[in-house]
Amino acid sequence: MIIEPRTRGFICLTSHPTGCAQNVKNQIDYVQSKGAIDGAKKVLVIGASTGFGLASRITSAFGSDAATIGVFFDKPGTEKRPGSPGFYNTAAFEKQAHAAGLYAKSINGDAFSNEIKRQTLDLIKKDLGQVDLVIYSLASPVRTHPDTGVRYKSVLKPIGGVFTNKTVDFHTGTVSEISINPAEGDDISNTVAVMGGEDWGMWMNALKEENLLSENATTVAYSYIGPSLTEAVYRKGTIGAAKDDLEATAFTITENLKELGGKAYVSVNKALVTQASSAIPVIPLYISLLYKVMKAEGIHEGCVEQIQRLYSERLYAEGDLLVDDKGRIRIDDWEMRADVQAKVAELWKEATTDSLPNIGDLAGYSNEFFNLFGFKVDGVNYDEDVNEVVEIPSMQ
Ligand code: NAI
Repeated sequence: MIIEPRTRGFICLTSHPTGCAQNVKNQIDYVQSKGAIDGAKKVLVIGASTGFGLASRITSAFGSDAATIGVFFDKPGTEKRPGSPGFYNTAAFEKQAHAAGLYAKSINGDAFSNEIKRQTLDLIKKDLGQVDLVIYSLASPVRTHPDTGVRYKSVLKPIGGVFTNKTVDFHTGTVSEISINPAEGDDISNTVAVMGGEDWGMWMNALKEENLLSENATTVAYSYIGPSLTEAVYRKGTIGAAKDDLEATAFTITENLKELGGKAYVSVNKALVTQASSAIPVIPLYISLLYKVMKAEGIHEGCVEQIQRLYSERLYAEGDLLVDDKGRIRIDDWEMRADVQAKVAELWKEATTDSLPNIGDLAGYSNEFFNLFGFKVDGVNYDEDVNEVVEIPSMQ
C-alpha cells in the first residue's frame, strides 16, 4: 500500500515502515560515527521503541556492542492498517543488530503488568543471565496497577491555579492563548501513579530478587525540568509531581542495590519532539523557539545525539560521574544555558502566528513530528508501494 500521513490533533494515525527503518539507520550511523563507548554489554531497555528509549537501545548496541532486550507497547501492521512507528523501528533495529552479530530480542506488551515483567525476567534468565544496565524510558498516559487492577490516567495540568499562556498548533502554525484549569481531585496522585517511580522500583526489585542484575549494575530513568516559561504546566504541574517522585525513587533504588554496588540515576534530558512531548500544551511553541536558537548556536541535538553524549560524556566517561546538587545527570545543560534561555524568553514575547515562521523553527518542529512516524524522511520514496506487514525477527 501507499502510506500517507493521517493526523488527528497531536497524533499521527499512520506510519511508514521504510521511513522508520531509515530513521533507525540514521541513528545507527550517527552512533557509529562517534566511535566505541566502553559501556554496558547486557542491557534491558523498558520503553525501547521510540524517542529516548530507542536512542538508548541503539547507542548501547552500536556504541558498546551490547546485547539488548527491548520492552515496548506497539501495534504491528495489518493488511488494512499500518502499525505503530515503534513496531517498525524495532523491526528495523533488530534486523541491523542481527546483521552486525548482536543479540537483540524484544517483548511487546504492557510493561506495567506482572505478566510482561515475568516474560522479561525469564528471557534475561534464559539468554543473558544478568543485565548490567537498565534504561527506564516509559512515557504513557495510563497505567493499570498490577496488584490492584486500578487504572490510573495521567493529566497535564498546573497545580494551584489556572495557567494561561501562548501555545501553537504546529500543523497550522496558529499561535493562540490557552488556559488550563488546575488539577483537582486525584489528578496529582493519578499522574504520579502513571509517570512516577513506583513501576521503575518494581522492575528493579524484581530483577534484584531473581539475581538478574550484575555487580555494579546501573539503571537510568529520564526526566525533564525545562524553563520558567513552561514551569506551571510542566515541572510545577502534575507531570512535574510525577518527575519529583521518579527522581526520589532513584535514591530508594540505589539504597536497595547497595549490596550489589548498583546505582540508580535520573538523567534530565533536553526538550525534544516525541510522541509524548507533542501532547503537552505550550511545549511545542517552546520547542520551536528553542530549536531555532540552538540550531543557530550549532548546539541542537536530537534523541540519539543526547543519549550518545549521555553515555560517552557522563555514564561511561572517565572520572567521577558529573551530577547536579540533587544527584541528577544533566544532559539538558545546553538547553538550559543562560544565553539560550534568555534568547528563547525574548522570542517568546514576540511570538505570534505571523512572526513564528521567522523567529521560530516551526518547519523543523513539524518535520520532526512527521519523521517520528517515518514520514518526510530524506531518501525515502513515498510513491513506492510498501508492505505494511513487517515482522520483528525475534517475535516471529
Ligand atoms: P516516547 O513516547 O517516544 O516513548 C515511549 C516508549 O514507552 C515507547 O517505546 C512506548 O512503546 C513505550 N511504552 C509506553 N507505554 C508502555 C507500556 N504500558 N508498556 C510498555 N511500553 C510502553 O517518549 P519519550 O519522549 O522518549 O519519553 C521517554 C522518557 O523521557 C519519559 O520519561 C519522558 O518524560 C522523558 N523525557 C522526554 C523529553 C521530551 O522532550 N520528549 C525530555 C526529557 C525527558
